[in-house]
Parts: sequence; C-alpha cells; structure tokens
Amino acid sequence: MLINSVEVIYFSPTGTTKRVLEGIVNGVGTKKVEFCDLLKSQENVDLKTEQPDLVIIGMATYRSRIPPEAAVELKKIKGDGTPVALVAVYGNNKFGDILLEMRDIATSTGFIPVAAAAFIGEHSFSTETMPIAAGRPDAEDIGKAKEFGEAIKNKMSTIDANIADCKLTVPGNYPYSEWHKLPVNPPETDENFCIKCEKCVSVCPVDAIKIDETVITNPELCIFCCACVKECPIAARKVTDTKLLEITERLYGNCSDRKEPEIFI
Ligand SMILES: Cc1cc2nc3c(=O)[nH]c(=O)nc-3n(C[C@H](O)[C@H](O)[C@H](O)COP(=O)(O)O)c2cc1C
Repeated sequence: MLINSVEVIYFSPTGTTKRVLEGIVNGVGTKKVEFCDLLKSQENVDLKTEQPDLVIIGMATYRSRIPPEAAVELKKIKGDGTPVALVAVYGNNKFGDILLEMRDIATSTGFIPVAAAAFIGEHSFSTETMPIAAGRPDAEDIGKAKEFGEAIKNKMSTIDANIADCKLTVPGNYPYSEWHKLPVNPPETDENFCIKCEKCVSVCPVDAIKIDETVITNPELCIFCCACVKECPIAARKVTDTKLLEITERLYGNCSDRKEPEIFI
C-alpha cells in the first residue's frame, strides 16, 4: 500500500512530541500531511471526510499513561480500518504502559496499529538549573524519527490486502499503572514582571488560565504540562509548588542517563 496522505493527531503541550512527529513524517515522505492538535482542535477529528492512508498518533507521556484529558478525545475518533502508527514521547524517565493503552484505544476505535515507538523529549519540569533530557529530541533523535518513518513506509508497502491481520506487540502491563493527578499547585505568575501578553492563555491546552486584573489559574483544570512556564516570553511564569520542585529535583537526580528511542514494528 502506498502512503499518499497522512493525518497526524497529537497531544504536545511543550512541543517535543510534535518535533518527533515532524521527523517521522519526513521519513514517510508524503507531501499531503495534516497536523491536528487533539485538545486545541475546534471540531472533533473526523477521518471520514477525507480518509488518509495513514494516521500517526503522538502523545506526551504523563505518569506512564495517556493524560486522561487526551484519552477522552482520542476515544472519540473513529478509525474506520485506517492503519495507525503510535508514538509516545517521554521525559527520559519511563514510558510505562502508554503504548499499550494507545494500542488498545486505537484498536477499540477501529484503527489498525501497524507500528509504534517511544522517543525522548525534554522533560516538562526541566529547568536551566535542573535540566532533564534538555534539548531533546536532538539531531540524533530526529534522525531516528526519520528512520522510523521510512520503516513505516516499507512495512506498509508489504502489507496490502492482509492489513487487518496485522498484530502489533508493544511493551506494557495490565492493569495499566494507576492514574492519579499530581497533588500539587499550578505554576504561578510574578505580577511584577507579567506584561499580560496572554501567551500563557493561548498555549494552555486545557484553558485553565484567565487574565483579569491578575493571571488566574484554575487548579482543577491545570494538568501541570508547564507549557505556560516554557512559553512565557519574560520568564514571569514559574513552578513554585514545593512538592513539584521536589519531584523535579528527584527526576534531575535519577534520570540523567541518556535513554534512546525504541521502535516496535
Ligand atoms: C504531569 C506530567 C507527568 C509526566 N510523566 C512522565 C513519565 O511518567 N515519564 C517520563 O519519562 N516523563 C514524564 N513526563 C514528561 C513528558 O512526558 C515529557 O516532557 C514530554 O517530552 C512532553 O511532551 P510535549 O513536549 O510534547 O508536551 C511528564 C510530564 C508531565 C507534565
């Protein structure tokens, strides 16, 4: 089967997953590519209008799982027999059960999983003083992403009529590791510096931030993705919660050994 069109569906608040996906698409080598931000898209993703030859789903890994807000949206997409490649990006700690969960959702919604991979991205909590996988994906990772894209293209060219029989094995365990929200407070804005440019409002994937006289963050909605911290143009937005800073320090201490992308095809 030739791949003439690709739809990329992603959850990537701080952009590392999206960069990996761009590398993969480059390897697939198709000109017709659509990118769809799962949580920012105004409409439900509908593959029926113009069914692509391949869908690539990319997810930032949260607590070894798909973040629940993204899982809810993912379950709404109907696969209609479309081949799908599944990509998890994690912050050099572990990716746990996310690929298994992604494969299970994709299969239950009618996709045919043909390939999967785990890549490494700079950790959402990484800072200048406590860097965790800083700068990743780097050039080497992007090279491997391109190779993965080429491998998907090659696999697709060999599995034509029998695509429905395709069985994909990915790592992970049942029951999936238990999900619980981090018991921490959202990042805070230093009002002395804030210029009210609303960048934090626009990058927040769950609309947790509002600007009135001050910047107000809804702690019930915040998923601690830290997009607001990383994107603030004058570094007025910071993680101040002591527990979250302790977690960051632990990760900085424990996750310094470089992990490499893993491919399952
Ligand atoms: C709430 C939360 C939980 C996370 N859990 C994990 C994890 O279990 N393992 C890991 O290696 N990285 C974890 N990360 C880091 C992200 O997976 C990593 O930074 C990823 O590159 C973010 O993708 P993005 O840039 O596309 O948003 C977590 C990040 C957040 C915000």
